Amino acid sequence: MLNAVERKIEQFIEDLNDKEVKKLYKKLPKGKRLRAKLILKIAGSSLSVVKTAAVVEMIHGASLLHDDVIDDAYTRRSKPSLNALYGNKTAIMMGDILYSKGFFELNNISADVAKLISNAVVQLSLGELKDVSLSKRFNTDKSIYMEMIYQKTASLMEASAGAGALLIGKDKNAYMTYGRNLGIAFQMIDDILDITMDSETLGKPALHDFEEGKTTLPYIYLYEALESEEKSRLRSLHAKSLSKDEQDWIKEKMNQTGVIDKSYNEAKELIEEAISLMNAQGESALSDIAKAMIERSF
Ligand code: IPE
Ligand code: IPE
Ligand code: MG
Ligand code: MG
Ligand code: MG
Repeated sequence: MLNAVERKIEQFIEDLNDKEVKKLYKKLPKGKRLRAKLILKIAGSSLSVVKTAAVVEMIHGASLLHDDVIDDAYTRRSKPSLNALYGNKTAIMMGDILYSKGFFELNNISADVAKLISNAVVQLSLGELKDVSLSKRFNTDKSIYMEMIYQKTASLMEASAGAGALLIGKDKNAYMTYGRNLGIAFQMIDDILDITMDSETLGKPALHDFEEGKTTLPYIYLYEALESEEKSRLRSLHAKSLSKDEQDWIKEKMNQTGVIDKSYNEAKELIEEAISLMNAQGESALSDIAKAMIERSF
């Protein structure tokens, strides 16, 4: 059924009747399509469901085009990012085109679904803006981090699950909670993988977040765990390009203090909550997708 979603996105791109956009779209690798899978799993594969899944993946793709400009990232989905290939201007405009076509198509689905998804994109953008502002200093406040990742990543998964429920006539609240937990855990794991995996496995830059000024959860916990002299050392490395020795020091300290496991276990708890919630709804098929969110290496 994911195939139908791919065809729908291609059709939406075709509608634009623009050679350059068609060429650029062909250049974009597909990604895991997790948000589309989530929607199909909840709601089946009627035309409205396929359209919604297509729109959500276009919106997600747009957010990544902008995100790679924001994060100075030159690899995406194991290929050079669009900003690396054609520069920021092209990447930004291709992002805008995917966003706008997505919003246009939402109008043909239903007003409720359109409200839910477009509001999530407002949250996503507010979250990305917060991420940028936070990266200008060494943030040690976990609650600010949690709010930011909810906005930039979980809001779209929450809305995707909610839209799926609406389309198939299920009560959206439980599904939205499930999607929110999944999304928060998903970003926590993404932030862990940035530290524990290499760029080859990730298909995007590794150990890049801290260099970009982002103190993700493992860094917040590491800062808490370090002695005062080491706290200063960690601070001094913030938002800088790191030598191999400095990278090794960070990873060694993370290992010694157990902060990766601590962060991972927190993500796992959120996933387990999401799974029990779905089991209670008789939706055990939704456990697999939740498990896949944490048991992943990229
Ligand atoms: C990447 O999302 C951005 C984050 C929210 C961490 P995905 O890991 O779902 O990206 P693709 O679509 O599979 O490339
Ligand atoms: C971005 O988070 C999430 C979005 C909403 C686009 P990241 O900046 O951590 O995503 P990656 O690691 O580049 O995929
Ligand atoms: Mg990024
Ligand atoms: Mg980012
Ligand atoms: Mg990341």
